[in-house]
Amino acid sequence: MTTRRLAVLTSGGDCAGLNAVIRAVTDHASGTHGWDVIGIKNGHLGLLEDPPQVIGLSMEAVRGDVLRTGGTLLGTTTKGDPFAFPDAAGKLHDRSGDVVAGLKRLGVNALVVIGGDGSMRLFHRLLDHSGIPWVGVPKTIDNDVPGTEYAVGFFTAVEVVGEAMDRLSSTAASHRRIMVLEVMGRDSGFLGLFGGLAGGADVILLPEFPYSLDDMTRHITALTDNRPSAVLVVAAEGIKRPPEDRRTDGSVGLAIARELQARTGFDARCTVLGHVQRGGSPAMFDRLLASAFGAKAVNLLAGGQTSRLVVWRGGVVTDIPISDAAKGPRFVGPDSELIRTARALGIYIGDTGR
Ligand code: F6P
Repeated sequence: MTTRRLAVLTSGGDCAGLNAVIRAVTDHASGTHGWDVIGIKNGHLGLLEDPPQVIGLSMEAVRGDVLRTGGTLLGTTTKGDPFAFPDAAGKLHDRSGDVVAGLKRLGVNALVVIGGDGSMRLFHRLLDHSGIPWVGVPKTIDNDVPGTEYAVGFFTAVEVVGEAMDRLSSTAASHRRIMVLEVMGRDSGFLGLFGGLAGGADVILLPEFPYSLDDMTRHITALTDNRPSAVLVVAAEGIKRPPEDRRTDGSVGLAIARELQARTGFDARCTVLGHVQRGGSPAMFDRLLASAFGAKAVNLLAGGQTSRLVVWRGGVVTDIPISDAAKGPRFVGPDSELIRTARALGIYIGDTGR
């Protein structure tokens, strides 16, 4: 059998656990199958360079701390749409053919793309008719890739949110304050929901469900029996701004804090967690997910499969067509398990229509 050359790349926003996927892919492809493994630098941008930018990956290269480190040793990008790629003068060109040509020039005949739903859409379009077999591995702190219960990086971000709430809780109690924590997640509320529940939030505001400042105020004053104590509010970055807020930009969490202070009379502060949620060492569950996903991706390619996304469903690692994942993003449903939990615990979560 001729040795296969497998390439792996990371695409889109980074998160914890990407290196753990790269390690698993390299170990299984190289160690089990004896394939040649290379890493493409900076997502598809590395393929548009002349020559294409790559690093050699071996079992030796992914030993040591690779499993434990945050970020991506390959680099990644959220920029440079290859279908409308800007030249030095800012003029746009279709360079999608150059991405495929870069892979062919490198002799790549199996590719693993570690990315979110946007990256799956991009590579689906790029590679559909290329004849290069490829498999996707879902990653994102937003956890919004369709078809998988969990994506790599999500649980590390949940840990960060939970830990931030632990810290906010004590200072909120000392000063009898309302603490609003603004979390990432783009237009999906998974991070706010999981992090908020794990961190003991009294109020969780998600992009999926409209909220009422009047109802929230009633909820908070009833909770505190009109005496301020620690009140923890998690606001996902994607929620609508309060209609009363005249600003059109800036932190939505801060806008919520201002409104709650004005309405309840209690002191309110806002913390915007930002990219802290994307950095640092991966949580143990992300390492497990990354390892299982990486091994499964190589198995699929070894079995002659292509255009599949590896997914986690009910404790089982399986796969779905990339076209299903490319329909993303996915959102928190009103009847999802943890929404039911939040309701049962008396947490204010806005209007879920139930
Ligand atoms: O999609 C991941 C994510 O971290 C979102 O939660 C957030 O809205 C966005 O990326 C931030 O993007 P950037 O790193 O470009 O500021």
